[in-house]
Amino acid sequence: MDNKDVLKQLTLEEKCSLVVGKDAWRTKNIDRLNIPSLFMADGPHGLRKVVDDSSIHDLAVTAVCYPSLVTLASSFDCKLAGLMGESIAKEFKAAGVDLILGPGINIKRHPYCGRNFEYFSEDPYVTTQMAKGYIKGAKKQGVGVCLKHYALNSQETYRMSSNSIADDRAKYEIYYKAFQELVKLDPEMVMSSYNYIDDTYASENFKHLQTILRDEFGFDGVIVSDWSAVNKRVDALIASLDLEMPGVIYSIHDLIKKIKKNDKIEKYLDASVLRILDMISKFSGKIQKTVSLDDNHLNAITVAKESMVLLKNEDNILPIKPNEKVLLVGEMAELVRYQGGGSSHINPYKIDSIRETFVKHKCVSFSKGYNSKDLSNDQVLIDELKTLAPNFDKIIVVCGLTDEFESEGYDRIHLEIPKNQQFVINQLANLNDNIVLVLQIGSPIVMPYLPKVKGVLNCYLGGEGLGKALESVVFGKTNPSGRLAETFPMNHSSIPSNPYFAKGNRNVFYQESIFVGYRFYQTVNQEVLFPFGYGLSYTHFEYSNMQVSHPILINQYINVSIDITNNGPMDGKEVVLLFFENKKPNIPRPIRELIAFDKIMIKNGETKTVTFKVNADMFKYYHPELKQFITDDGVYHLQFCKSARDILIEKPVTVNRGTLYKDSIWNKINSYNPAKGLRFDTKDFEQLINRPVLNQTIKYKRPFTINNSFEDMQDVWLGRVIYKMFLNRAKKEAKNQDDQFVNMMMASIKTQPIRTLAILSDGAIGINTAIGLVELINGHIFKAIKYLLKRD
Ligand code: BGC
Repeated sequence: MDNKDVLKQLTLEEKCSLVVGKDAWRTKNIDRLNIPSLFMADGPHGLRKVVDDSSIHDLAVTAVCYPSLVTLASSFDCKLAGLMGESIAKEFKAAGVDLILGPGINIKRHPYCGRNFEYFSEDPYVTTQMAKGYIKGAKKQGVGVCLKHYALNSQETYRMSSNSIADDRAKYEIYYKAFQELVKLDPEMVMSSYNYIDDTYASENFKHLQTILRDEFGFDGVIVSDWSAVNKRVDALIASLDLEMPGVIYSIHDLIKKIKKNDKIEKYLDASVLRILDMISKFSGKIQKTVSLDDNHLNAITVAKESMVLLKNEDNILPIKPNEKVLLVGEMAELVRYQGGGSSHINPYKIDSIRETFVKHKCVSFSKGYNSKDLSNDQVLIDELKTLAPNFDKIIVVCGLTDEFESEGYDRIHLEIPKNQQFVINQLANLNDNIVLVLQIGSPIVMPYLPKVKGVLNCYLGGEGLGKALESVVFGKTNPSGRLAETFPMNHSSIPSNPYFAKGNRNVFYQESIFVGYRFYQTVNQEVLFPFGYGLSYTHFEYSNMQVSHPILINQYINVSIDITNNGPMDGKEVVLLFFENKKPNIPRPIRELIAFDKIMIKNGETKTVTFKVNADMFKYYHPELKQFITDDGVYHLQFCKSARDILIEKPVTVNRGTLYKDSIWNKINSYNPAKGLRFDTKDFEQLINRPVLNQTIKYKRPFTINNSFEDMQDVWLGRVIYKMFLNRAKKEAKNQDDQFVNMMMASIKTQPIRTLAILSDGAIGINTAIGLVELINGHIFKAIKYLLKRD
């Protein structure tokens, strides 16, 4: 039966139950019409299928934990992304799960974002291309995907209540871009984010969802809320948010009541139900297949190997040569940090620890060096290092950010690794000249000790196969070929968004606009620790003979090619990066933007030609007054670069399509002028966003609503008391959970809206109880009693 006919047969109650989840992970089944449930799970680094479907936080089944998306992005290898997407999808399929809640395609605005490890890059093009690979891989297995989190969701601080405000160029060129491109692949779902956008929750923002995502970008799949992100269900429905997750019975009743009162809403309900039915039909009747977790474990190792970024290699300290005596140092070599905390946390199949893998080599000994839980210097461990370190040819010290430092649910507050680890690095440097630092991090760090170490190998978060992958790179079986998909800044104050990032509990102004990551550092010629695109190899590549098939671009594609020679000493893979630059743009533009990349294997002594197809549309920008992407006529330099900082070879092409430039507000705001150092004056920004920049912190007063948090209520005695009761209860409930989960939970309880706390409490507190408690804090005793007596 056609879904339009199915729709006609559904009662109002059934339709309302379809647009609200059945439980934490499934859509509602309606057996009388043979409508099955659709099953979804996190995503994006492996299968996180919780054992009890009705619970959000329950333990997950065992699955292979792949490297995080930040790691995958550093491979700059779209086929590898396909391998990872496909392997994960196989596990989903075998577990009977239809859809991956991922990939996360938010743009990294600031290295502090606690969830950066779950996102690909600071660059929308890399994000798009790598996500494309992942999605195509998943789709090969007939498993659905969900792009998340739409959009302007670049910080965890107050992630459920902050209000993102950006100008149109920033939105279209940076934060919407990957969504706009990737909806062309027909992802089954897009997840709306928790935050407000321009004063309206993303999940009920008509302009954001219906006008932009659907009408402009052409998305006709299902829009799902982030978990508990729905505030007013009817408004969300009208904005075209189809599915509220997780399911809350309260929402179904609310919808039924409101639609009975106003039948004009039913057409929105019907549109959503139809989209959900169409999605469910895609998956019903699909056969479950078996999967080999051992094979997938090997795939996880492959992804990790191909993604490691060699940041320093003085005197070719790596790879380790035969018979060299190596001291492996660091607790993180034993308790490896192979994944980040939060909803992407996988219950791993088997972990290849670095210590276990390395000490199988006779030449390797281990010393713990520091503790990860207690961050003070451990003198006994330091003394051991003092005895051991001088007797080894090389020291490999494994360090990084521990779970407490970064996670979903909170942001970082500085760029350093734990002080006790830094102390160990500095101590080792006094004892031995040959030190290699191996990093396990989810986001950039600063390295004041960099001059004291000869080698730095960044594994990011390498998945459960990290130990074996690292062994392969360190001992020279794999030549490292990863590149940074984000900039490592010199310090926090040089980060363009730093003055505006996570500054208060309300408005988040994206005042740096389009100048995110390398787009900023290049344009103002700001020194960085490691630029976007940076990464070394054990071999050398030489670029020559750049060719452009036609110097004038009208509407055709031209070929842009380059010869690359591997001139020794071993085979290796090279990431080829093509940027463009308009040296005299009509409108302020970043110096250099990436438009193409590829990764190729070149044997020692071999030369390969890499060709990219280029057309004028690839140079486009969003014109805020014309409200569309355009490419101005002019001269564009095509640049093959080693990183965003280092041009290897460039050639100009001219776009000549007769486009007449129309002046923009961007030509009138001096502080957004690259020649004047990009100072982002607030008055100028106000012109870009066409509204005043107001205070970023708000002191909330009674009467509170369920959209307030306990933090907002701290001035009221009862608010403090109920908060403490909540904390105690949560601690008790969480006693069987792992530390990283408890960290995340404790960090969020205070600042999360009471509404979302209730929905995410796995049934511990119903929404009416939550309203009742808020009314109690407001001093509205009768109202409070009314709600507290209601059944949830
Ligand atoms: C996260 C989503 C995730 C969802 C379900 C939310 O808190 O933001 O990324 O898919 O939970 O676990």
